[in-house]
Amino acid sequence: MTKILVATEKPFASVAVDGIKKTVTEAGYELVLLEKYTDSNSLIKAIAEVDALIIRSDKVTKEVIDAGKNLKIIVRAGAGYDNIDLNAATAKGIVAMNTPGQNSNAVAELALGMMVYISRGCFKGVSGNELKNKKLGIHAYGWVGKMVANIAKGFGMQVYAYDPFVEKSVMEKDDVKIVSSVEELYSTCSYISLHIPANEKTKRSINYDLLSKMPKGATLINTARKEVINEDSLQKIFTERTDFKYISDIAPDCHNILVSKYEGRYFSTPKKQGAETAEANINAGIAATKQIVNFLKNGDRTYQVNK
Ligand code: 3PG
Repeated sequence: MTKILVATEKPFASVAVDGIKKTVTEAGYELVLLEKYTDSNSLIKAIAEVDALIIRSDKVTKEVIDAGKNLKIIVRAGAGYDNIDLNAATAKGIVAMNTPGQNSNAVAELALGMMVYISRGCFKGVSGNELKNKKLGIHAYGWVGKMVANIAKGFGMQVYAYDPFVEKSVMEKDDVKIVSSVEELYSTCSYISLHIPANEKTKRSINYDLLSKMPKGATLINTARKEVINEDSLQKIFTERTDFKYISDIAPDCHNILVSKYEGRYFSTPKKQGAETAEANINAGIAATKQIVNFLKNGDRTYQVNK
């Protein structure tokens, strides 16, 4: 029987697992569940007999892929697929997909929540700042960026965006101000919300040059990936500018230094929290399952990322 493995070191909400199970069973397949595993050997063992794999931020290395003797498809239930060795998958003819948009609202809500939190001095009883009338720069206007823009407008923020890969008309339609360079975005906006993926071009790209351009009250919000930040630059900016704040949905490597030195100006979630809602888990988990069923039964490759 065709087997679908759901391997989640950080499990989906149980209601999402129920939905995935129903979809798998209705398709006539069998669900194999591996949750909260602590070492890659468990994944290597579990993948040996399955036809398809659903993961979140779980690391799918070449070793894992090679162990999947019957593996035909990997679906990352979420947006970023920097955790999959795409070359290894392609080399073995295995299709890799993501589920764009399915967990974006959860991440966007968290970005705004984190903006409020840091702007109100981490709720420690000090006088803070409001978001209304502040300039927010959306760095990359994909699914999450678009939703952050929409919610931020409800707060009365002035929303700017930079994304060379998105048609201007998309941003214009959303009534978002388009800037022509990343430098312009950073020099215009005191709040910057990051929505770029982590890849060879973007890793460590948020550097001193960009951060030092930000106007007074500079606040950087990272619900993307820790790897896109140049942490030496981050520490330099914190040292130079007492107005600079950083809030991140995943701790940077220099977390302990920032915590000890910059109380009230820095916060990070202990574990990536953006997509941690029942709604996002249901949306992304069931979408991933349906994409697998559709691929295995009809050869549908929509959302393939290793073409
Ligand atoms: C994503 O890329 O979809 C988000 O970062 C969420 O990741 P998670 O499923 O590991 O929480």
